[in-house]
Amino acid sequence: MPSKIELYEQVLEQIRSVVVDETDMIANMANTVAILQSTFGFWWTGFYRVQGEQLVLGPFQGPVACTRIRKGKGVCGTAWEKKETLIVSDVHKFKGHIACSSESNSEIVVPMIRNAEVEAVLDIDSREFGCFDTTDKLYLEKVVDIIANNTK
Ligand code: SME
Repeated sequence: MPSKIELYEQVLEQIRSVVVDETDMIANMANTVAILQSTFGFWWTGFYRVQGEQLVLGPFQGPVACTRIRKGKGVCGTAWEKKETLIVSDVHKFKGHIACSSESNSEIVVPMIRNAEVEAVLDIDSREFGCFDTTDKLYLEKVVDIIANNTK
């Protein structure tokens, strides 16, 4: 069975190949989510895009999710405000966590930064506790960079 690193290397290649000839951000986010979901089978994978002072739900796969998150709110809004990736091994212990689904137990949120501004966040939820580590952070930051560097 391939290691997580091997899977992420394959994921990066797949994402680069679908993103290279497409500059539309929504299209690239949609395919990126599909690639991550089909590889890892997370509970919920999706993007929220910055629109003014809110994050608005973008392409995702998984259960219905909340549509708008204010800056500084929840894990997503905090990652946006801090401009840094947040790994939460137990979401029930994160003050202000927004529970879109009661099934979610751990989460990683990776900001997509362009010209020093957060334009979107990639949010992944798992039913397992402690699902995400620094390997996920390393590769998911590469994933959002691919989108940031190839889209309008
Ligand atoms: N749990 C997130 C909200 C988004 S859903 O998980 C899809 C948060 O606290 O920001």
